[in-house]
Amino acid sequence: MELFTAMKERRSCRNFLTEPVDEATIEKVLEAATWAPSPLNTQPWEFIVITNPEVKGKIFAEGERSRKWALETTGWKWLGAYALDFLKSVPVIIAVIGDPKKSGVDMFMEEGPMGYQAACSAAIQNMHLAAYSLGLSTLWFTLFDKKALREVLGILPEKIPLALICLGKPEHSPAPTPRKDIKEKTTYIR
Ligand SMILES: Cc1cc2nc3c(=O)[nH]c(=O)nc-3n(C[C@H](O)[C@H](O)[C@H](O)COP(=O)(O)O)c2cc1C
Repeated sequence: MELFTAMKERRSCRNFLTEPVDEATIEKVLEAATWAPSPLNTQPWEFIVITNPEVKGKIFAEGERSRKWALETTGWKWLGAYALDFLKSVPVIIAVIGDPKKSGVDMFMEEGPMGYQAACSAAIQNMHLAAYSLGLSTLWFTLFDKKALREVLGILPEKIPLALICLGKPEHSPAPTPRKDIKEKTTYIR
């Protein structure tokens, strides 16, 4: 698939078929992740591939807890109607874990380590595009408490669970999402 087509047509999916994804395909998606750039080529990511229904159930329970907390805290009405059942039905969830100790020179700067997050985000976008080019859909999911997710997945306290990537075939094509014109977002200094 042409790269620009994948970038433009990929959409977040929140309805997946239960049909399994084979391991060779999962590995292709993970390989795409590892080709992302990172500070000093530290490759500050690790992945946990979850297909176990019981663990997916625990992730769903944590998502629900976080959704209710977010609804109370923000008052955002859409959170009341936001169904997380896809966390149980999606065939694969890939947890992306970042290592703040692998963050380049910014570790020593006032704002603290951020490069590792940027690198993990680049890896995640590669995963999205690779998955789409292989006929699959994805969702970048972050509605969870990091401490609770560490307990569910057995992640060390010094590592940061940054995202859960849902991966599978879509039940139906996700709705298109708009983008602002590039002119609204760009300043040229000539
Ligand atoms: C850092 C980040 C966090 C996100 N977290 C969530 C999430 O927790 N739940 C969700 O349904 N979508 C999440 N998304 C997906 C966005 O809602 C989605 O990308 C955006 O609405 C644009 O839609 P599109 O991906 O279909 O173009 C997240 C995306 C990013 C980049």
